[in-house]
Amino acid sequence: VARGLFVTGTDTGVGKTVVSAALMCLYRERAPVRYWKPIQTGIEQDDDTGNVMRLAGCVPGEVWNEGVRLPRPVSPHLAAHSAGQPISLEALADLWASADVGAVADVGAAFRRPEAFWIVEGAGGVLVPLNDEHAVIDLIVRLALPALVVARTTLGTINQTLLTLDALKSRQVPVAGVVMVGAPDLGAREAIERRGRTIVAEMPALNPLTPAAVASWAAEASGSWRI
Ligand SMILES: Nc1ncnc2c1ncn2[C@@H]1O[C@H](COP(=O)(O)OP(=O)(O)O)[C@@H](O)[C@H]1O
Ligand SMILES: [Mg+2]
Repeated sequence: VARGLFVTGTDTGVGKTVVSAALMCLYRERAPVRYWKPIQTGIEQDDDTGNVMRLAGCVPGEVWNEGVRLPRPVSPHLAAHSAGQPISLEALADLWASADVGAVADVGAAFRRPEAFWIVEGAGGVLVPLNDEHAVIDLIVRLALPALVVARTTLGTINQTLLTLDALKSRQVPVAGVVMVGAPDLGAREAIERRGRTIVAEMPALNPLTPAAVASWAAEASGSWRI
């Protein structure tokens, strides 16, 4: 069984990719790390894999750029429908299993490390549809990874974060914690920790957002962040 975290969030644009980059820096100290974005839509403009590579200063073997890649910056089920390429959960799970155990010859030796720690980034939030039947949460369950929830610190985040935690609990997905991105909000943080029975880490707005800033947040967080 592979180890790692599934990075999900309360919404799109909340900071999942930046947090994923920081987690690559954080866990790299302890194990070989791998980043995987199983479903990327809007490929004309969005490249989370490239952004993580840059922000986390990855070597090529640390990112696995495979999976569903679709044009149009819309929900995966709509992008897949437009492209006439339905998304299959089983195909994604098989793909990942092949990377994990190294059954696919051309994946490369770097991926045949069973001890690797995987940072898998979802698309949008947990109930984002992938096809007529499945949503991102089904992929999380299928990959059997604990979830890390990325949330904003702005007004409304308590509700969105608690709803997301509820959805994960209803499917028995272990929750590793929440990362709140933005200007710290102690009241919101405490409400989420208490009502969501979870731990919260805070990532401030990094200005400028550079690999050095991401690495330095990761170094600070590694002292207190125990997953
Ligand atoms: N901690 C941060 N400091 C500064 N900018 C951030 C931070 N987190 C995210 N951003 C910016 O916010 C936008 C959305 O972040 P991103 O990580 O791509 O979100 P998601 O992966 O959830 O869609 C991006 O432009 C990103 O650079
Ligand atoms: Mg992203």
